[in-house]
Amino acid sequence: MPDPAAPGACVLSDELFRLLRDTILKLCGIHFKDTNKFLLERRIQQRLKALQFSSFEQYYYYITYDPRATQEMDQLYDVITTNETYFFREQRQLQAFIEEIVPEVLAQKPKLRVWSAGCSTGEEPYTLAMLLDESGAFDRGGIDIYASDISQEAVQKARKGVYREHSFRTTPERYRARYFEEAGPGLWRVKDAVRQKVSFGRLNLLDTNRIYLLGTLDVILCRNVIIYFDDDAKRRTIEMFYDRLGPGGYLLLGHSESLISFATRFKLHHFRNDMVYRK
Ligand SMILES: C[S@@+](CC[C@H](N)C(=O)[O-])C[C@H]1O[C@@H](n2cnc3c(N)ncnc32)[C@H](O)[C@@H]1O
Repeated sequence: MPDPAAPGACVLSDELFRLLRDTILKLCGIHFKDTNKFLLERRIQQRLKALQFSSFEQYYYYITYDPRATQEMDQLYDVITTNETYFFREQRQLQAFIEEIVPEVLAQKPKLRVWSAGCSTGEEPYTLAMLLDESGAFDRGGIDIYASDISQEAVQKARKGVYREHSFRTTPERYRARYFEEAGPGLWRVKDAVRQKVSFGRLNLLDTNRIYLLGTLDVILCRNVIIYFDDDAKRRTIEMFYDRLGPGGYLLLGHSESLISFATRFKLHHFRNDMVYRK
């Protein structure tokens, strides 16, 4: 990656920073604060290099007026998103999911429909599939696990299901032994039986028309995604989740996220293991 301070590297002016940041915000809700200008500059440098552009201005005109802009936005999402994730993240919440939410839903309905919204490279939905398999839930009812992300690169990796050690940082060893096979030095592949339980797709959380096609969900996990959004995009996304959930459906956000500053129709629900939002 070029060092923006190096001679010859492009520099992002304040004005172009604001134009690019507003375009990104409008399209996908991700908000780069003024203090994150250098982060955005570094990330978009990669696209300038790939396209052999010599200025951010050229890039801005490309994504604003060029017929190939839509394709380019897909590449841009890959570089501007933060895809940090790992298996068995936020264990108490997962315990609430598997020990309290799943039995409750399956006692009332023949089918459980779960959506991992902003699944990155797949560790989150595969964790759900492993937990559901281990608990015997697949034998107790129909289960649909949908997983989506805006980044095409992340979704491609998720579909492949091949992971390095850092994805296993909080994974109890018995899961690796049971649900993975070695795929080369330092690499583990999710076994097909787990892989086939998850349907992956590319979806922008602001694209309500396409999201509508998911139908009605019982549980939505959207963890560590809307922390990157501005308040307006957060509000719209939360409303969209409310509309997509059936009555009594659950919304699981990341632990550092809360709906406290939003007027929301969700109610906070206390489980033994954790607190989650409920429709
Ligand atoms: C930090 S990862 C979180 C992954 C996982 N949910 C977890 O908690 O480990 C955030 C993900 O949100 C995705 N994302 C950001 N904005 C999005 C949008 N508008 N629509 C869909 N996904 C988005 C990013 O591509 C990224 O993979």
